[in-house]
Amino acid sequence: MTEQATRKVTMDKLVSLCKRRGYIFPSSEIYGGMGACYDYGPLGVELKNNVKACWWRSVVQERDDMVGLDASILMHPQTWVASGHVDGFADPLVDCKQCRKRWRSDNIAGEKCPECGGDLTEPRMFNLMFKTHVGAVEDEAAVVYLRPETAQGIFVNFENVLSSTRRKLPFGIAQIGKAFRNEITTGNFIFRMREFEQMEVEYFVVPGSDEEWFRTWVDERVKWYTDLGISRENLRLVQHGVDELAHYAKSCTDIEYLFPMGWSELEGIANRTDFDLKQHAGHSGKDISYYDEDTKEHIVPYVIEPSAGVDRSVLAFLVDAYDEEPDKDEIRVVLRLHPDLAPVKVAILPLSRNEKLLPLSQDIYNNLRRCWMVQYDNAQSIGRRYRRYDEIGTPFCVTIDFDSLEDNAVTIRERDGMKQIRVPIAELKATLDAKLCGQPFEVLPPGGKKWLGFEE
Ligand code: GLY
Repeated sequence: MTEQATRKVTMDKLVSLCKRRGYIFPSSEIYGGMGACYDYGPLGVELKNNVKACWWRSVVQERDDMVGLDASILMHPQTWVASGHVDGFADPLVDCKQCRKRWRSDNIAGEKCPECGGDLTEPRMFNLMFKTHVGAVEDEAAVVYLRPETAQGIFVNFENVLSSTRRKLPFGIAQIGKAFRNEITTGNFIFRMREFEQMEVEYFVVPGSDEEWFRTWVDERVKWYTDLGISRENLRLVQHGVDELAHYAKSCTDIEYLFPMGWSELEGIANRTDFDLKQHAGHSGKDISYYDEDTKEHIVPYVIEPSAGVDRSVLAFLVDAYDEEPDKDEIRVVLRLHPDLAPVKVAILPLSRNEKLLPLSQDIYNNLRRCWMVQYDNAQSIGRRYRRYDEIGTPFCVTIDFDSLEDNAVTIRERDGMKQIRVPIAELKATLDAKLCGQPFEVLPPGGKKWLGFEE
C-alpha cells in the first residue's frame, strides 16, 4: 500500500472544502483566475495569521537570542547583484515549438514536449526575479526587483540591528513577508505560487560552531511542526547533494511533508556561511562584521537559515488536520486543527432562535469575543451546526438552552471526540481558556459535570 493510500484527504477534497467554507479562493476568479495565485478568504486569513503568530512566538517571543524585523519588499538593485540573484537565480527553460508550452528542462525527461510530443527549443536561462520600475520613466536605471527571498532584507540590516540592540553572538533575526518568483512550473494549489510568503530566520554564529547550530535548528523546526499537530511520520529530512545546493549554501536539509502529491519541501535549513555578509560588504564598501570582545577581533559570522513557507505550512496543517468518519448515513468531515491554529476558537450556539435565549446568548458572545475569534450562529438544527464547525476546525461549541436561563450553566461540546460538559457561566471563560491551552476535556471546573448531550 502506498503512503497515501490510507489517507482520507485528497487535494481535490481539500480545494473544494477551502472554496466552499471560505479558506482559500482562486485569485481574480470572476475574470477566469490568475495562474498560481490564490486569495485567503475569511477563515484562511485567520489560519494564516495564526500560523505566522505561532512561528513568531516560537522564534522571537520565547527566545532570548532572537529579534524581529520587517524590511521593505523593494530594495536597492545592487542588493541582488551582491546576493548573486541577478547572475545566478535562474532556471533552464525550453519552449515547445508546436504547442508553445514552456517547461523547465531539468524537470522533464526526454527531448520532446511532455504535452504534445513536439520539438523543443534549446535551453536558455530564465531569471526568476520579477522586475518593475521605480518612478515614471521606464529606463534601465530605475529597474528594481520584487524580492525573491526575505533573507536579504535581514543581511543588509545586520549592522543596524547589531548596533541598536547590542547583541552578542550567537543571535538571530526573524522576518515574515511576501516574496516573488516568476516560476515556470507552478501548481498543486498553494504549494508553488509566484507570490508567496516566507518565514525566515537568519541566525548568526561564530564560524566553527555553525554545524552544531545547523543541527540544533533542524531539530527545533521539526519540533515546531509536530507541536502544532503535524504527524511525525508525515515529515522527513532530506539532505541536499552538493550539486543541488543553492549558490550561497555549504549544506542544506529540507524538511519534507507528505503532501497529497507526494513528499515535497516544507522548509529548508541552510548553512549560508559568511557568503551574504561578505558579498554585501564587498559591494557596498561598508564594514559588515562583529567585534568579538573576548578575542578582540572583528569576525564575519556564519549564518544558519531556517526558511519556511507560510503558504506551504498552511497547506500542510490543513492536509494533516483533515479527517472523515462515518456519521449515521453521512460522513462527518473534521479539521482536527491545533487550537492555536483554528480560525474560530469557539462557536456560540443558542439551541433555538427563540428570543428568550437571545439576551443571554448575546451576552456570552460579547464577553468571549474580546478574548478569541468567536462566531455566533443560530441557523439550522444544533446537529447541523456542530457539523459545520467540525468542518472548519472549531475546537469548541458553547450551547445555550432553556435550562441555562434557570441554572446559569451552558454546555461545551468538543470537536474531536464530540464529548460534552456542563459548566457554570461564571466558569465558562476560564474553562475555555484552559481547554484551548491543552487541558484534558474531562477535567471539570468547580460546579461542572459531564453531560449526556444534545442529539447530534
Ligand atoms: N532564503 C532562502 C530561500 O528563499 O529559499
